[in-house]
Amino acid sequence: MMEEPLKIAIAGTGRMGAAMAERLLARAHEVTVWNRTPQKTKALAASGARVAATPRDAATGADFIITMLTDAAAIEAMYRGADGLLAGEVRGKLFIDMSTVRPHVEKALSASVTAKGAALIECPVGGTVGPAREGKLFGFVGGEASDVERARPLLNDLCRRVEHVGPVGAGASMKLAINLPLLVYYQALGEALSLCRTIDVDPARLIDIFSDTSGGPNMLKVRGPAIAATLQGKETTPVTFDVNLMRKDLRTMLEEASALGVNMPLTAQALERYDDAARDGIGASDATMLPAYWLRRGSI
Ligand SMILES: NC(=O)c1ccc[n+]([C@@H]2O[C@H](COP(=O)([O-])OP(=O)(O)OC[C@H]3O[C@@H](n4cnc5c(N)ncnc54)[C@H](OP(=O)(O)O)[C@@H]3O)[C@@H](O)[C@H]2O)c1
Repeated sequence: MMEEPLKIAIAGTGRMGAAMAERLLARAHEVTVWNRTPQKTKALAASGARVAATPRDAATGADFIITMLTDAAAIEAMYRGADGLLAGEVRGKLFIDMSTVRPHVEKALSASVTAKGAALIECPVGGTVGPAREGKLFGFVGGEASDVERARPLLNDLCRRVEHVGPVGAGASMKLAINLPLLVYYQALGEALSLCRTIDVDPARLIDIFSDTSGGPNMLKVRGPAIAATLQGKETTPVTFDVNLMRKDLRTMLEEASALGVNMPLTAQALERYDDAARDGIGASDATMLPAYWLRRGSI
C-alpha cells in the first residue's frame, strides 16, 4: 500500500537520476526534476514530472532533494552555483546525495547544507539502471540517525536494502570499497578468458560456468549474458555503466587511498588498462565490453 506521496526533487537526470525519477513517479510521489542538459528531462516530463527552471527552484519546491551527479565538480556546480540548490530558502529540507565521490566531498557538502538550516545524508548506491528503475538498489547511507529515518520511506522505494553505516562520509567510503573488486574484476575476467582460447566452448556457456563458480561475482549473474554477447562481437546497448565512469571511480579510490596512506597496486594497474581502453576508443562503451576488448587487444 502506497504511503503519503512525498515532494521530491531530483537534480541530475543522467542515466541513474532519470531511472530513479521514473521509479519515484511510478510510486506516485510528486517529482520535480532539473538537469544541466534539458533534453534529458523531456521523457520524465511526459511521465508526469515537473521540470524546474533552475536547481534553486527545484530545491525550494520540494521537501527531499536527491542529487545523482558525476563527480565533485558537478556537486560544486549544482549546489553552490549562482542559481544552485543552496541559493534559495532551504531551511528544514533534507538533501540526499547519491553520487559516487570521496568522503571529504560529502562532509564539506554536509557543512554547507547545515549552514543553510537544512540537513544532508549521503546514499551512494550499488546496482545500475535496471535496479534503479525497479527500486532494487543497495544504499550505503551516511548521516545522522534522525535524518536517515526521515529519508527511509523514500530510500525504501529506491533500494532493496538500505545500510546505515555511520556519519556522513561513511557511506562514500563503503561505496568506493564495494566497487573496487568489481571494477578490477572486469580486467581479471578478460585475462582469465585469454586462458580459454584453446577451449572450444560457446561464450554463453563459458560465462555461465564462470558465474556458477568462485570465478564469478554476483554481477555475472545479471550481466553475464551481455558479456557473452560481446564475446560474439555484439555491442552492449543501451550503455548503463561506461568505461569512463569506471575510470572516474578508480581514480577516486586511488586518491582516497593516497590520502589514507595505503597502497593499491591492483587498482592502479586496472586504471592503467582502462585508460588504454579509453585511448583505443571505448571510453563511452559499456563496462561489459572490457573483457572482449582485452581479448582482442591481448592477442596483438
Ligand atoms: N551508471 C551506473 O550504473 C551507476 C551505478 C551506481 C552509481 N553510479 C554513480 O552515479 C553517478 C551518476 O552516474 P550516471 O551513470 O547517471 O552518469 P551520467 O548518465 O553521466 O549522469 C551524470 C549526471 O551529472 C550531471 N553533471 C555532470 N557534470 C555536471 C556539472 N558540472 N553541472 C551540473 N550537472 C552535471 C549530468 O548532467 P548532463 O546530463 O548535463 O551531462 C548528469 O545529470 C556517478 O557518480 C556514478 O559513479 C552510476
